[in-house]
Amino acid sequence: MDLNKTYWQQRYLEGRTGWDLGAASPPIQAYIDQLGRTDQRILVPGAGRGFEAEYLYRKGFANFTVLDIAPFPLKQLADRLPPEFPAERLVEGDFFEYSGGPFDLILEHTFFCALPLQDRTRYAEKMAELLRPGGILAGLLFDFPLTPDGPPFGGSPEEYKTLFAPAFSIRVLERARNSIPPRAGRELFFIFEKK
Ligand SMILES: C[S@@+](CC[C@H](N)C(=O)[O-])C[C@H]1O[C@@H](n2cnc3c(N)ncnc32)[C@H](O)[C@@H]1O
Repeated sequence: MDLNKTYWQQRYLEGRTGWDLGAASPPIQAYIDQLGRTDQRILVPGAGRGFEAEYLYRKGFANFTVLDIAPFPLKQLADRLPPEFPAERLVEGDFFEYSGGPFDLILEHTFFCALPLQDRTRYAEKMAELLRPGGILAGLLFDFPLTPDGPPFGGSPEEYKTLFAPAFSIRVLERARNSIPPRAGRELFFIFEKK
């Protein structure tokens, strides 16, 4: 199975979007709520319908960019944001080819787990490339055994430490306390700081 643009666009068109909460995930909402400065340069990659981005907007963050390989969910997000929201901040494209930034903060929510397993090291390297030194990659990662069945593909704290430690200081990597009930006990909240 090729997890490419056609695959994701088709899943949105057919409504096979079991990952989509229809709202920002509670642990990420709580993280955004305590961020403070609203002028931070923020990237939401693999954003899908963009509920984390919409939450940022509602909280007064203006300087964020949303990226997804599939056009359909981006169009849906554009329709929920006000017409004056800059169209160039909604980027249709492949994360691995994206050359924006540098960003102060990148938010992760069910993007990492959706990627082919062979892209995990590239993901960590690309995140580091897009962040300024001291910039933050934060969000949620799944904590269930990794098998070839997915997406979503699982992982463990040990694997994540090994993947991210070369370019990031692991500030927080712990069981999320406010997951939605179906994901309770299976999500890790993390904050990684680019070295
Ligand atoms: C499981 S969905 C998660 C969407 C969103 N983060 C959410 O939680 O609702 C994975 C998303 O990543 C996008 N995606 C997959 N590969 C991508 C890539 N290489 N570059 C950018 N987006 C990608 C898909 O189109 C899809 O919207």
